[in-house]
Amino acid sequence: MREQLTIGIVGSGYVGLVTAVCFAELGHRVICVDSDESKIALLRQGIPPIHEEYLPQLLQRHANHAVEFTTDLKGATRQAHALFIAVGTPQSQTGHADMSYVDAVASEVARAITDYKLIVEKSTVPVYTNEWISRIMMRNGVPHELFDVASNPEFLREGTAVMDFLHPDRIVIGVDSGRAAEILQAIYEPLISGSYYKKADAVPGPRMTSEPAPLLETSTKAAEIIKHASNAFLAMKISFINTVSNICEAVGADIEQVAKGIGSDGRIGHKFLKAGIGYGGSCFPKDVAAFRYVAEHLGVDFGLLSEVEKVNAEQKKRFFQKVRSALWTFRGKKLGVLGLAFKGGTDDIRESPAIDLIRMFLHEGCVVSVYDPAAAEKARQVLPASKELSYAKDSYEAAQDADALLVLTDWAEFAELDLDRLSRILRYPVVIDGRNLFDPAVMRKYGFTYLGVGRAAGMHEKDPVFAKLP
Ligand code: UGA
Repeated sequence: MREQLTIGIVGSGYVGLVTAVCFAELGHRVICVDSDESKIALLRQGIPPIHEEYLPQLLQRHANHAVEFTTDLKGATRQAHALFIAVGTPQSQTGHADMSYVDAVASEVARAITDYKLIVEKSTVPVYTNEWISRIMMRNGVPHELFDVASNPEFLREGTAVMDFLHPDRIVIGVDSGRAAEILQAIYEPLISGSYYKKADAVPGPRMTSEPAPLLETSTKAAEIIKHASNAFLAMKISFINTVSNICEAVGADIEQVAKGIGSDGRIGHKFLKAGIGYGGSCFPKDVAAFRYVAEHLGVDFGLLSEVEKVNAEQKKRFFQKVRSALWTFRGKKLGVLGLAFKGGTDDIRESPAIDLIRMFLHEGCVVSVYDPAAAEKARQVLPASKELSYAKDSYEAAQDADALLVLTDWAEFAELDLDRLSRILRYPVVIDGRNLFDPAVMRKYGFTYLGVGRAAGMHEKDPVFAKLP
């Protein structure tokens, strides 16, 4: 039997941390490295720095046992058979991914190598990164037989990252040597063979022993492109449905019905056809821009991606205009806002359309009372401290005496609100829903003037004047 694998993970962000605890869950020994000492101290105590389902349980199970947290990259390099680079690749001013963290890690790893290592790119990186890493190794005097570089992109969604990792649609390994393929196959063996799903305490999800995770072996370049192209395609689906929602709005059709009709075609599928206020998060905006940049750099015209970005920016502005047309003027109006995170189920506010919109409303002189089940702390760090902006303890407090209630994040709990109570505490029963969480007919029944995205305006009969306005 093969000796137990020791895996080094460099970076303890969403991807690195989830990968670390999940590899431990698969039975490997893991050393997770980060240069941020305070974060490492928290992790050693088993405290998750992010809001992620199953992460607290897996940290509890594996921290300081199967997973060791450290700031010592050289030490981790010496011990690990495989090193996964999962550091950030932030967006630079021109749109391309800033690879300086990957470069720094690769250089430090190179200086610590004394025996064979598999270096695996886990961060989202542009095509050719594997070749750059190889070049860094060789420039630092590492002979070619002492390393391989592979690409193993992740397809985790924030909020469900642990489940996505352990129950993936596919595992992609981009490898250019048999040795690299063999190590990555051994790392993922419990998911590929299905043995993981037999465990009594396995994290639940759609995969099972009879239907284990499929492994897709490609070249490293193909794997790099698969990651960028997957995110760009999903972002394109969202911009597509958002544009169709604008057509629905113009003619009084319901985008939810249209999306159902389109998605029922197996070739299109239902997922990622939810119209809203545009995509956000740390991945889609950055990755669409980076992929567009890669194409440009290679002389390929990928104007489609510029359109995807343009539609996404417009969708936010369109929602802003919708609120304006419902309220007529902004100055001094009180807005109840539900949601800060870029999507439900996470405390992440990076590139969140909700944050941008709140800034725009504050700029227009509105008074905003906002509630989010998880993201308030992070929002406080980026939104201006102002007496015009308060953080409510729940949705009802946010809605109290508001001129309108806006839904900006698709948290499941918002869809469960007591509509009778809501209609009584709002100053005017106006709900403008950027995530289509409610049924327009039900909202009308409760006396709301309800505006969704891509739906005929739902005016209550008590609001006849408003209904006639342009
Ligand atoms: C995304 C991808 O879905 C993951 O597969 C990928 O691994 C990850 O990026 C990454 O590259 O790390 P994530 O950013 O967590 O995951 O969020 P998504 O669930 O994809 O949502 C992204 C944005 O699109 C959110 O703002 C969401 O509200 C919006 N969205 C999503 C829509 O507006 N409509 C939809 O139908 C789906």
